[in-house]
Amino acid sequence: MPDSMSGGGPIGDRQINSINLRGRVAIVTGGSAGIGLAVAKRFLASGAQVAIWGRNAERLKSAEAILADSSRIHTSVVDVIDEAAIQGGIESVIARFGRLDILVNNAGILGPRHPVWEYPAKAWREVLEINLTGAFLCSKAAAPHMRRQKYGRVVNIGSASGKDGNPYVSAYSAAKAGLIALTKALAKETATDGVLVNCVTPSASETEIFGELTDLRRSELLSRVPMKRFVDVGEIAALVAWLSSEECSFSTGATFDITGGRTTF
Ligand SMILES: NC(=O)c1ccc[n+]([C@@H]2O[C@H](COP(=O)([O-])OP(=O)(O)OC[C@H]3O[C@@H](n4cnc5c(N)ncnc54)[C@H](O)[C@@H]3O)[C@@H](O)[C@H]2O)c1
Repeated sequence: MPDSMSGGGPIGDRQINSINLRGRVAIVTGGSAGIGLAVAKRFLASGAQVAIWGRNAERLKSAEAILADSSRIHTSVVDVIDEAAIQGGIESVIARFGRLDILVNNAGILGPRHPVWEYPAKAWREVLEINLTGAFLCSKAAAPHMRRQKYGRVVNIGSASGKDGNPYVSAYSAAKAGLIALTKALAKETATDGVLVNCVTPSASETEIFGELTDLRRSELLSRVPMKRFVDVGEIAALVAWLSSEECSFSTGATFDITGGRTTF
């Protein structure tokens, strides 16, 4: 049996289906690293023009160098909680590429780990603001363009925490649960406009969001995953790319798990 048919392992670069995003213009928020960068890479491989938003100009430059296709990449410093910056970012995408078809609300932070009774209110507000209000503000700014052209795809990067409610990360869990509800509400508002809105809920992936992982934390995270491994960012990007394509045509307001069997509802 070829390696690629053995099943169960990360797919790496071995089994890449073609997803057609030719002529489509996408924004990926928080796209200079981790899942967002993998999504940007997959979008470019699928033929899209991609705007990557992030908070740090240096990191955006490095991402651009990694992706190495400057003709179809546009980077902007946009903080997803800054409404004016979002508006300016969208205008510069339209000025550069002429339209906007896809928004991936990926920017997020985990915040500190505390039980609720010790959780600092300031950190709670910041986690809600970036993970949830940020996605609201970007969707609010992108929706009119998509509705006008009668075509759009919004993909929100949620988390299994938004369904399970993980201990010590109450703000993150609540924000991600809110993102699932925002997905459903917006999807119903745009259902007859050709604008489809979906959410993906990954389990843990080894990106910067966790900071340094201790062995204990690593085994805690893996203990919840029946397939006993971290999800690869490329696996998430594959799902996001399909949800961002025209071929995804009758799924909206839905939540797509990518958790190695962890989430059972
Ligand atoms: N890694 C995981 O285990 C995991 C699991 C489920 C969901 N997610 C979600 O995936 C998304 C991407 O996370 P990641 O794992 O790639 O981690 P990451 O830390 O590499 O990526 C998050 C990105 O968001 C950016 N960002 C943070 N605040 C921002 C703001 N205000 N404006 C613009 N950009 C901002 C960061 O700079 C970073 O580039 C997040 O929403 C995260 O909650 C991650």
